[in-house]
Amino acid sequence: MKRRVAILISGRGSNMAALIRAAAQADFPAEITLVISNRPDAAGLGKARASGVETLVVESKPFGKDRAAFESALQSALDRHRIELICLAGFMRLFTAEFVRRWYGRMLNIHPSLLPSFPGLDPHGQALRAGVKLSGATVHFVIPETDAGPIVMQGAVPVSDHDTSDTLSERILEVEHRIYQESLRLLAIGKVRIEGDVCKTTGSTDSGNFLISPVVG
Ligand code: GAR
Repeated sequence: MKRRVAILISGRGSNMAALIRAAAQADFPAEITLVISNRPDAAGLGKARASGVETLVVESKPFGKDRAAFESALQSALDRHRIELICLAGFMRLFTAEFVRRWYGRMLNIHPSLLPSFPGLDPHGQALRAGVKLSGATVHFVIPETDAGPIVMQGAVPVSDHDTSDTLSERILEVEHRIYQESLRLLAIGKVRIEGDVCKTTGSTDSGNFLISPVVG
């Protein structure tokens, strides 16, 4: 039985689209049952519909600061669709600790930096200002702190002296699309487990790849 997944978005939805594409493969162990946006104008909604995935708007704005009331509307939608796993994909709304605890171990997020570096807003700008030579993306289990939690997978890219936030985010996005589907696949087949604050993966081997940056000459 394929695991039933909801993807939560607020915007463009490129990670959502990559997950939908991956899940369309017959042997993928999860199905994207539902896409939920907290914003009615999220561009990702149209992409999901075009792929034949059911969409729902649960607007957060009318709830104002009442996060718990928004989450109870969200939870009813998740219950109605018998959702087992949640993937946050550019979902720009913080959850209460209670909602996070309820979904602990079953809710993934992706962030465009090598966490724990550069959580929060403008991670690409943060990376450029710090002058790091490698950055990347992280898929992690969601905990109450923003952009933190047991790390499932990371992918790294070089950062060049000529990079802008735009060029860096474009390069990292490619990695995001690869590692999010692989992380979901591993979670769906039960190959990842949380031990304390750390996530371990059954059957994983050292990839043996090195990434060195910069390279001169
Ligand atoms: C992605 O880069 C994702 O990693 C980031 O928002 C973007 C959404 O793009 N998420 C965060 O910064 C979470 N803190 P998308 O809508 O095209 O997937």
